[in-house]
Amino acid sequence: MAIHNKSHFNSGLMQLNRMSKDNIKHKTSVDFKVPEKTNCILLNKDCLELLKSLPDNSIQLILIDPPYNLDLANWDTYENYIEWAAKWLDESYRVLSPNGNIVIFGGTQFQNVKSGDLIEIIYYCRHKTKFRLVNTIIWYYKNGMSAHRYFANRHEEAIWLTKTDKYYFDLDSVRVPYGEKELRDALKDKRLNPENVKKGKNPTNVWEIGRLNGNSLERVGHPTQKPLEIIRRFVKSLSYPDSVVLDFFAGSGTTGRVCIEEKRNCIMCDTDIQSKTFFKKHIEKMQETIFSNSFTENENIDSFFEDINKRTVDSDN
Ligand SMILES: C[S@@+](CC[C@H](N)C(=O)[O-])C[C@H]1O[C@@H](n2cnc3c(N)ncnc32)[C@H](O)[C@@H]1O
Repeated sequence: MAIHNKSHFNSGLMQLNRMSKDNIKHKTSVDFKVPEKTNCILLNKDCLELLKSLPDNSIQLILIDPPYNLDLANWDTYENYIEWAAKWLDESYRVLSPNGNIVIFGGTQFQNVKSGDLIEIIYYCRHKTKFRLVNTIIWYYKNGMSAHRYFANRHEEAIWLTKTDKYYFDLDSVRVPYGEKELRDALKDKRLNPENVKKGKNPTNVWEIGRLNGNSLERVGHPTQKPLEIIRRFVKSLSYPDSVVLDFFAGSGTTGRVCIEEKRNCIMCDTDIQSKTFFKKHIEKMQETIFSNSFTENENIDSFFEDINKRTVDSDN
């Protein structure tokens, strides 16, 4: 028996299709100018210290890959995990703009009462904050460690939360092209809007992206470095050019690199002094590619926001 995909009959989706046919902008669309140069800052600071210095509603996208007390490295130890995480989650809510998005990487990997995981974070967000969950994204990879006492792990998760239902989301920027035959079939499928079909497929909430191997060309030396591709998909769809992205567990600064490449501004911090060295390597690697764009590395938060505000005022005049 064929199971119909109910989303084709979803009234919200039908309305979006009608609007795009009539060239009507959705209420969440944003008019932006693509800047020639963006701003970036990486501070050697504790996340809470940085968060407290940021203005309310000032961030478009928070993209974080937190420590979970799994003893992966010496930065990975917090006595009462959720009590600590609650502090940066509450601050994140305050600094996020009303149309903003927050993405938190993690998994269900707790080992003992001391360690944390994404379930604990979801529980806190659900019961103690006003964040709304939009998607849980499954990051599926084929390459990983082998295992003998359990099934070898091949996925991690990321949750995408928002402050309101008017969150910014640019699906078109991350659509995946159809294969030739798939495209022909999809264009014949009466349930699908041909305009959207031509733009490509929704990548869905299961993303197959390889993990970085030890000898991957992207590697800059951080033990838990995330692939550029996964960060890029979030940056492109959940923020827009010249908006501000925040990663307060920067690690090697993968988020900062992608932001420069995609013309977003980026604030980062990490307690590990080595972050700056890793980030420098990212920049050197970026400069060998076509994605290399000009950017200013700011020394402090005030000059970072001053530069961005100045650009906005100049472009309005
Ligand atoms: C999982 S790693 C992030 C890796 C990063 N996504 C990348 O691609 O390179 C988490 C980072 O959080 C940092 N960290 C841990 N506790 C912190 C804190 N209280 N404030 C800021 N950074 C912290 C660690 O030093 C570590 O580099």
